[in-house]
Amino acid sequence: MTPDRILSAEPEPDDLQAELSLRPKRLREYIGQQKVKANLEISIAAARKRSESLDHVLLFGPPGLGKTTLANIIANEMDANIRQTSGPALEKPGDLVAIVTNLELGDALFIDEIHRLPATVEEVLYSAMEDFYIDVVIGQGPSARTLKVEIPRFTLIGATTRAGLLTAPLRSRFGIVHRLDFYDVDSLSIIIRRSSEILSIPISNEAAMELARRSRGTPRIANRLLRRVRDFAEVRHQGTVSIEIAREALRMLEVDDYGLDEIDRKLLTTVIERFGGGPVGVSALASSIAEDRGTIEDLYEPYLIQIGFLQRTPRGRVASRLAYEHLGYPLSAARNQKDLF
Ligand SMILES: Nc1ncnc2c1ncn2[C@@H]1O[C@H](COP(=O)(O)OP(=O)(O)OP(=O)(O)O)[C@@H](O)[C@H]1O
Ligand SMILES: [Mg+2]
Repeated sequence: MTPDRILSAEPEPDDLQAELSLRPKRLREYIGQQKVKANLEISIAAARKRSESLDHVLLFGPPGLGKTTLANIIANEMDANIRQTSGPALEKPGDLVAIVTNLELGDALFIDEIHRLPATVEEVLYSAMEDFYIDVVIGQGPSARTLKVEIPRFTLIGATTRAGLLTAPLRSRFGIVHRLDFYDVDSLSIIIRRSSEILSIPISNEAAMELARRSRGTPRIANRLLRRVRDFAEVRHQGTVSIEIAREALRMLEVDDYGLDEIDRKLLTTVIERFGGGPVGVSALASSIAEDRGTIEDLYEPYLIQIGFLQRTPRGRVASRLAYEHLGYPLSAARNQKDLF
């Protein structure tokens, strides 16, 4: 496995199997994201008290932070069945019609990557979400007519890594909207310890903290590092994952101290080398590293900003002293040292 893939927030094939057993099922088992949890608890309790279905929920945030997990938890807490599909899987309106007409009262419908819904499908969703009916066209040509079909009240749970790509009409139809943030190191270490219990991997607290620090704020990566380090401990040492074993394994796996991946590094070195540390506009930055502007804004920048390597200023992005130090550049290389923060 290459170092950048081990730190990728996107699921790797062997994550999917492992994640099934590691996914918390109830809100109280869901670690971190206190604000989101507290708000959801209230929404769920209120809906249950009124014996109503929960308002439609939109969850957004970078990959691997627990959107799918939370969608399933919401359904569990509502005692609802959940049907799962995704934006790209719903190719034509008929695909959505087939699903919504089979829903039962109170069911949850989870649409992952909802920003990738085709426009024609999205339009069907509007009336389904708002007034719980859909227009079904029967027949073709001049004899075609539209039939208004009622559907049971359901809860749509949409997930997206790219909230910016959602159309305004779709977004406005969600009554509950939550953004998931990167996890702090303490929450990640609790997640790692919880997973280590489920997977029977003995690990010291110190080692769990070390893995947590390098997981770029992402539970998926934390769980993956735990599994890799376990392999290492089993083959080389047998027994508990100590801090020494964890460090040795992470060094072999070439996991960066801050959990930076190749694109993070490319982005930072570009700001430093080509733009003298900034400020540089995000469009200029995007074209120099051949990435899409939105991908940078939604997927890469947030983590770099969170760990204090990059700052968003009105004049553009600026690298920090910490970034210079971490990547081994002298501060004197900056175009304008006083612009660094
Ligand atoms: N709050 C949490 N507490 C404990 N474990 C978590 C939490 N959030 C996520 N996880 C773990 O991380 C894994 C990845 O989470 P999940 O699949 O829900 O992410 P996602 O946001 O849906 O990612 P993607 O954008 O790629 O679909 C889960 O299988 C689970 O084991
Ligand atoms: Mg998901």
